[in-house]
Amino acid sequence: MSLALVQGGAADEITVRWNREAFDRIRLVPRVLVDVDTINTRLGLFGSDLPHPILIAPSAYHRMVHPGGEVETARGASRSGALFIVSSASNTRMGVISRESTVPLWFQMYVQSDRAFVADVVREVEAAGARVLVVTVDAPVVGPRYRQIRSGFRLAPGLELPYMDDVNRGRDSLLRGGNTRMTWGEIEWLRTITRLPIVLKGIMSPVDAELAVRAGVAGIVVSNHGGRMLDTAPAAITALPRVLDVVAGRFPVLVDGGIRRGTDVLKALAYGAKGVLIGRPCLHGLAAGGAEGVARVVGILKDELEQAMALTGRTSLRAIDRSVIWE
Ligand SMILES: Cc1cc2nc3c(=O)[nH]c(=O)nc-3n(C[C@H](O)[C@H](O)[C@H](O)COP(=O)(O)O)c2cc1C
Repeated sequence: MSLALVQGGAADEITVRWNREAFDRIRLVPRVLVDVDTINTRLGLFGSDLPHPILIAPSAYHRMVHPGGEVETARGASRSGALFIVSSASNTRMGVISRESTVPLWFQMYVQSDRAFVADVVREVEAAGARVLVVTVDAPVVGPRYRQIRSGFRLAPGLELPYMDDVNRGRDSLLRGGNTRMTWGEIEWLRTITRLPIVLKGIMSPVDAELAVRAGVAGIVVSNHGGRMLDTAPAAITALPRVLDVVAGRFPVLVDGGIRRGTDVLKALAYGAKGVLIGRPCLHGLAAGGAEGVARVVGILKDELEQAMALTGRTSLRAIDRSVIWE
């Protein structure tokens, strides 16, 4: 059941497949005779100094894959220096997670229909030290998760969802879910109730990217939710260059979906993403080995990124540009 939760996508899972295949089709240019003795993957992002550009994507219900849940993920993130974006479908409150964390935490919101509840959540996560509010905008409804439905998915009894008021009140279901009335007005309102930078997650269309700039948000994550929403939407890495053209450096752009190798991280940075998020790999690490598993997954990706940088002759993130890609 948890495997279907983690691995599944929407409908025929075509976008899940494309997220991977699109990375495989991008070719890299090997470079030689460059001094690559020291490789520096450090990055500054929204006021945090990060050792590398690999972030842990927000994902729901960590206690469905490990009894330690989000606390275990936070420990793994801390060991590997990965910024952890806590999902609002977390089974654990932010305050508990932040006590276990030495890395910066961001909080991802599914904006619930009751504004008073949302305002309380924002105050709670600010007090718990969240540095950025990531607002997921690609889920007014949930894509048809046939694999999950076939597996008989339900939340294990006793697991809490402290930030999912609509689900807890029976206004939404975990499989159909979503705030169907949410529009740009909610983003405008959120800006009035918090001083945290707001990053919109789930932008694919260049038109929406322009609207995001005009809405005054601090950044976006180009994402198709790991292929879990609109099936046959293009791969996120396919959408990225078009979105970046429109954004034209006006705010930082991150990307997720299908990142499984250090070479994938390099490709995303080469197009112009500031950093990448990884979803399923972390959940597999968490399931297999708790904090150690999460740290190992991030560690492997970071090592592979450094190797790929060395083999393309780039010693810092700043040196990574489009010329890394064989076009
Ligand atoms: C099991 C699972 C749960 C997820 N839950 C959330 C969530 O609560 N909020 C959210 O914004 N994205 C959620 N996502 C999407 C991830 O943040 C991310 O966009 C996606 O997993 C990236 O693709 P990847 O898994 O191929 O790395 C979830 C993804 C998975 C696999």
